Amino acid sequence: MKPMISLFVTVMLISNIQAQVPIYKDPKQTADSRLKDLLNRMTIEEKAGQLNQLNGGFFTGPALNDPGQKAKMQMVRDGKVGSFLNVIGAKETRAIQEIAVKESRLGIPILFALDVIHGYKTIFPIPLAEACSWDLSIMEKSAGIAAKEASSAGIHWTFAPMCDISNDPRWGRVMEGAGEDPWLGAQIAAARVKGFQGSLNDAEHILSCVKHFAVYGAVEGGKEYNNVDVSRVALWNKYMPPYEAAVKAGAATVMNSFNVFEGVPASGNKYLVTDILKKKWGFGGIVVSDWGSFGEMIAHGYAADEKDAALKAILAGSDMDMEAQVTIKNLAQLVKEGKVSMQAVDDAVSRVLKMKFKLGLFDDPYRFSDEAREKATLFTAANRAEALEAAKRSIVLLKNEKNTLPIAFNGKKVALIGSFADSKDDLLDFWIAQGEAKNTVTLREGLQNRFGNAASISFAPGYGLDGVANEAMIKEAVAMAETADVLLVNVGLSGKMAGEDRALAFPEIPAPQVALLQALKKTGKPIVALVSSGRPLILTAIQPLADAIVQCWILGTETGNAVADVLSGAYNPSGKTVMTFPYAIGQIPVYYNAFNTGRPIPEGTDPGWKSRYRDIPNKPLYPFGYGLSYTSFTYGGLSLDKNTAGKNETIQVSVTVTNSGSVAGEEIVQLYIRDVAASIVRPVKELKNFQKITLKPGESRTVKFILLPKDLSFSDAAGTPVLEPGLFKIMVGGNSRDVLEKELTIK
Ligand code: BGC
Repeated sequence: MKPMISLFVTVMLISNIQAQVPIYKDPKQTADSRLKDLLNRMTIEEKAGQLNQLNGGFFTGPALNDPGQKAKMQMVRDGKVGSFLNVIGAKETRAIQEIAVKESRLGIPILFALDVIHGYKTIFPIPLAEACSWDLSIMEKSAGIAAKEASSAGIHWTFAPMCDISNDPRWGRVMEGAGEDPWLGAQIAAARVKGFQGSLNDAEHILSCVKHFAVYGAVEGGKEYNNVDVSRVALWNKYMPPYEAAVKAGAATVMNSFNVFEGVPASGNKYLVTDILKKKWGFGGIVVSDWGSFGEMIAHGYAADEKDAALKAILAGSDMDMEAQVTIKNLAQLVKEGKVSMQAVDDAVSRVLKMKFKLGLFDDPYRFSDEAREKATLFTAANRAEALEAAKRSIVLLKNEKNTLPIAFNGKKVALIGSFADSKDDLLDFWIAQGEAKNTVTLREGLQNRFGNAASISFAPGYGLDGVANEAMIKEAVAMAETADVLLVNVGLSGKMAGEDRALAFPEIPAPQVALLQALKKTGKPIVALVSSGRPLILTAIQPLADAIVQCWILGTETGNAVADVLSGAYNPSGKTVMTFPYAIGQIPVYYNAFNTGRPIPEGTDPGWKSRYRDIPNKPLYPFGYGLSYTSFTYGGLSLDKNTAGKNETIQVSVTVTNSGSVAGEEIVQLYIRDVAASIVRPVKELKNFQKITLKPGESRTVKFILLPKDLSFSDAAGTPVLEPGLFKIMVGGNSRDVLEKELTIK
């Protein structure tokens, strides 16, 4: 070829290639035009593919030869997968992303999702425990660290935070939530969303997912996957606030719940998904099903078959089908038959694609899958330090008689008793992402780390991990206890009993552990019960047997170190319960923000013919908002800046809190209201604000709250806030039971 001609051909070739770069792949184009261009190019099958989320697994190494994995990879090549869950690690995610980007017709990248619930490699306390810190910045930070770790391992999307309000410790999943209070739950949900997502403009944050929408925490009997039957006023006042706060905080995705609402499964519930979420709240992100929940509409008795399930899900407004594969199999046909409009399909698909554009995956599909970054990011000393901080603040001191705690370990003979205290496996729960038992500090190790040189720490298992009573083990523990100065007894349940599919009919301290404590009590030695559990257990049986009770929950990587710091007083405990601790199983559900009933039992009166049980008290063992410190706090001088106010006025509430003990401590000052008479009955107490303050010994502080009109209103059955004139009680205290009270009249 002559030089001139060859130059001409080259120029032509380059301009041809440029002309061929599709708009959707061109970062210089607007997000909108890129999305439109892509939608225009997609077949209905490819659109259905974007709505299909599959369970992953491994796609490299020996797994490559697995026929199931091969079939999934072929689906990726065919554009039939929009997202995977449970593909883990920079290497794996990259391998599959390459197939999607290089081998599928349009090269649309995959979204990788995982349940990153309380950490990825560095494991933080379970969310229920962390909520007991009432420390929103710690919760935001721990979600941020979880996101940073997960994102370095190729994860774009977590299925958290769980925003389900629950009153039922039988439900294993209370560990994933923030407890029983809608107001606190809303603050925590928003903090967690912010932590996971940041502003979603870097590769260090991930999409969050508000779940389980809606009302999954109200499952009957606390049984997993069970039914729910709640009224609309309960929906709006009790259950919606955390979901709504999370959506308002910018949550990118929402998950359908497994349950029905008003007889219609959430995945096919147009009222929940379209009317409330997408229209009323203007949610523009992805609605993903829960695992198989589109298909489960058949078992519920709401869909006739898979095709009907797919139809009902998309007509309700649900977008992505996790694992049921009813959408991928039926959507094209449903469109062909005119049962589903292309507009509805495009709306759902756009929501998925928008997130992929937002995360920058069309421009750099591998920006989250970087093995070097993964190595440098996971389980760092800095992350562990934050996990320790969160763990210390999550612990709740429930009882501390005769100042049993803190313990001056120097020169002491300490008997540590209880199999869990020496078992790494039992420290971790169901939702640990890539957390590893070997990285987790047991109680025994924590005590040894902190006081091994100063104190003599002996250990006896006391009970078997199988939960069976064992006389020999009890004898061994008692013999050791006889020579000790103080007994630390780790009781409760294995972490493995916390999480999904862990409903319990008996959420209590197992009988062999009670027997152990009874035997130890006879030694006359001071007993500290360290309770491990992912839920409030019934502690009534051990209450008289232990001098001190420390609710340790499931604390993650730094468990042992955190508990040791609290036992020694290196950290003065400040956590407060976010779920009521029932007195007995038969009391469940028991919660602080209940209605008064027509027959309450006024303090100090004969309870005859009132709302009660014959065999147990009405009061729980420990109320909501409760937790002790090594110091004490006194409350006084509660005042309002006005006793009568108009509907639009704000009210200033002041109270003086004094540290009346001898060490510095943190106190969670809680503000409650009661709307005394209203068009629908309102709870006896509703939390409306709190402040966490630190006071030196002898120090007093006047804590001020501003009550806003919205704090005094409730929602009607349509979800509209109403503020009705009349009498209100304004209460402040260190827990939901012991409060000071003033009256306020709204004109
Ligand atoms: C759970 C969800 C979880 C999903 C994916 C379901 O069984 O209910 O909370 O996000 O599985 O693992």
